[in-house]
Amino acid sequence: MLSESSAAVVAATLPAVQAHGEAITGRFYRRMFDAHPELLDIFNRGNQATGQQKAALAAAVVAYAEHLTGGSSMPWGPILDRIAHKHASLGITATQYTIVGRHLLGAVGEVLGDAVTPEVATAWDEVYWLLACELIAREARLYTVAGVPEDGSVWRSWRVAERTAETRDVVSFTLVPADGGAAPDFTPGQYVSVAVDLDGGRGQQIRQYSLSGRPGAASWRITVKRVRGVDGAPDGMVSTFLHERVSVGDTLRLSPPFGEVNAIGDSGPLLLVSAGIGLTPAMAALEHLAATAPERPVELVHADRAGAAHALRHELPALQERLPRLSVRLWYEDAADAELAGLKAEVSSGLVDPELIPVRPDTYVHLCGPVPFMALVRGGLLRRGVPTERIAYEVFGPGMLRD
Ligand SMILES: Cc1cc2nc3c(=O)[nH]c(=O)nc-3n(C[C@H](O)[C@H](O)[C@H](O)COP(=O)(O)OP(=O)(O)OC[C@H]3O[C@@H](n4cnc5c(N)ncnc54)[C@H](O)[C@@H]3O)c2cc1C
Ligand code: HEM
Repeated sequence: MLSESSAAVVAATLPAVQAHGEAITGRFYRRMFDAHPELLDIFNRGNQATGQQKAALAAAVVAYAEHLTGGSSMPWGPILDRIAHKHASLGITATQYTIVGRHLLGAVGEVLGDAVTPEVATAWDEVYWLLACELIAREARLYTVAGVPEDGSVWRSWRVAERTAETRDVVSFTLVPADGGAAPDFTPGQYVSVAVDLDGGRGQQIRQYSLSGRPGAASWRITVKRVRGVDGAPDGMVSTFLHERVSVGDTLRLSPPFGEVNAIGDSGPLLLVSAGIGLTPAMAALEHLAATAPERPVELVHADRAGAAHALRHELPALQERLPRLSVRLWYEDAADAELAGLKAEVSSGLVDPELIPVRPDTYVHLCGPVPFMALVRGGLLRRGVPTERIAYEVFGPGMLRD
């Protein structure tokens, strides 16, 4: 709870902070990276360049201030969980919250000038630390459960045991712990962070990749789409590095598995809807169910450019044998090469039509794909009566879907 005096000050200054959000965010990162250049290795430079992530941190503090002063009824639990899992996968420490807090509040002072009286500064400091404490506590629990060692480092070395070209643009890496230890278990839908040292002394970059293999196996698998720059933008840093530089026998630094999104729900019918590389959590879900609950009714809906672009499709016939109640519904923009020996699937050409996705009211849904695709499908399912709490989704970037 925010103290009464701070609540009044925050409510009064919220419009000014909101109005200058972009300027505050810009100053914040500049100040912080000038004082702590080592943090450039933790933040995603692609997201910084496109502005995607830049606003997320400061915007979350402002949204939390609105929540504390009664101006919003946003459900904070899921938002805090999402941020905490992402932070934990990056190895964010409690000490770093002091750095971020100092520079965020310093940026507010720089932008709003004399309007930031000592009372205003104290009130916003209180907002920041209420939110920070919520996150630090969640992250501490996640670190304990994941068995992160005393020194707080989340990184462990993994050796590439196999590298498989899935399609022209997609490669899978099978990874085993380089120290010969066991691969930790994970739940379908979880991801790992992968840290790589870019060529030419460009420093470290970290990205998340959903585990696409069977939970409980002796190895992990990630399946990575190569991101190509369009309209003059550079190619993706980490996906290009993984495609071009990483071979069998090389090692990669990986975090433990994190991620709050459950790809399988409870015990009823399951609907997995994916597009493009968004199929990775669904593949882990299918592998898991084939091993643990083969009688579960599962509907797999996948959208892709064409059969040849549909990664891991060749695994579906064997999964259908192991999961007798698995039906597959595919939408290919170009369905000319839709046939695959042994795969029983209904195939349509063109873009996915949410009205044609088979659902029952008690279905648990997991969505993963580009944000506009998920927004379209989720909207259609909500209109058709699927309750919002039965639709889970994973965004392969910062942020969540808006209602
Ligand atoms: C929870 C989660 C799970 C994920 N799972 C998977 C998965 O299973 N498989 C998978 O392939 N991906 C997955 N991702 C996505 C993955 O983490 C990366 O985002 C993806 O690989 C792209 O990273 P990159 O470093 O190659 O691209 P970046 O270098 O981060 O570039 C991203 C985009 O920004 C553009 N860009 C970069 N710099 C600039 C600039 N200066 N100006 C203009 N544009 C610029 C690039 O052109 C590109 O389009 C997941 C993401 C999350 C959050
Ligand atoms: C109260 C304090 C903080 C808030 C409100 C906050 C908020 C957020 C949010 C909303 C995201 C995006 C999550 C998503 O993927 O959807 C995020 C990601 C991230 N945060 Fe924080 N954060 C805080 C503190 C910190 C600290 C202390 C650090 C460490 C220096 C940090 C580093 C990062 C990084 C590196 C990412 C991922 C960036 C990316 O991949 O682009 N954050 N944070």
